[in-house]
Amino acid sequence: MDKDSPIGLFDSGVGGLTVAHAISDLLPDEQLIYYGDTAHLPYGDKSRETIVGYSTGITDFLLEQRCKVILIACNSASTNALDEVESHVAKRAHVLNVVDPVVESINNGEGIKHVGIIGTRATIESRTYQSRITSLNPDLQVSSLATPLFVPMIEEGFVFDDISNAIIRAYLSRKEISDIDTMILGCTHYPIIRNQISRYYNFEVNVLDSARIVAAFLKKFMEENNLLSPGRKQENKYFVSEHTAAFETIANMFFHEKISLIRNSIWK
Ligand code: DGL
Repeated sequence: MDKDSPIGLFDSGVGGLTVAHAISDLLPDEQLIYYGDTAHLPYGDKSRETIVGYSTGITDFLLEQRCKVILIACNSASTNALDEVESHVAKRAHVLNVVDPVVESINNGEGIKHVGIIGTRATIESRTYQSRITSLNPDLQVSSLATPLFVPMIEEGFVFDDISNAIIRAYLSRKEISDIDTMILGCTHYPIIRNQISRYYNFEVNVLDSARIVAAFLKKFMEENNLLSPGRKQENKYFVSEHTAAFETIANMFFHEKISLIRNSIWK
């Protein structure tokens, strides 16, 4: 594995660009190869078998691009397909996911007693976050709720308005996640509404910035494994399996700046 090689990351669509943006902020010398499987989104409502099939297919593409690290920048895939992606890669690259960094930050956090997790159905029903957190720290109370309306809401541009505030209130007022002190945004789309969620809680709940936590974890991992690029950076590339003008618009919202999506269907 060459230090000049890119970091590969993938998501069901363009939500993982929130993670890509945090990484490009923290590791500006690294080339990123992003793959968004826009032809198949959402993953959050699919079966585990289907998510595994898509994830290993994209992994092959990222291996062809000679990626030194493959980051599963999708919670639905990280919680349902990590073992299969790892065995598929068979040590040809390092495999990271978006769950472990957040679980580690909960474990190292101070004063945390009751953690709430929100995400897609696939993520919440996998119980991956819940079991990893409690296996490290059995005294922590962990509550979770699937919030499947948030992804289409954000993709339709309903953010910082009355509609999104009403949907946020409808979900977060549910008794399943009452009395939490810390919130995990278990979906790569959700950083877009992080401030709205904090405001719903009157800033009394610590809403973790998952994208930044993942980027910091990746940086540390690369330092420890001597993987950092010496600085001869090539252009980042953002591939998608389906390309429409709407995806281009949403991609700019997730990445906070203008990027160009390249259509590259890896599916037969
Ligand atoms: N970005 C995906 C995730 O983090 C959510 C979108 C989807 O369901 O495909 O789980």
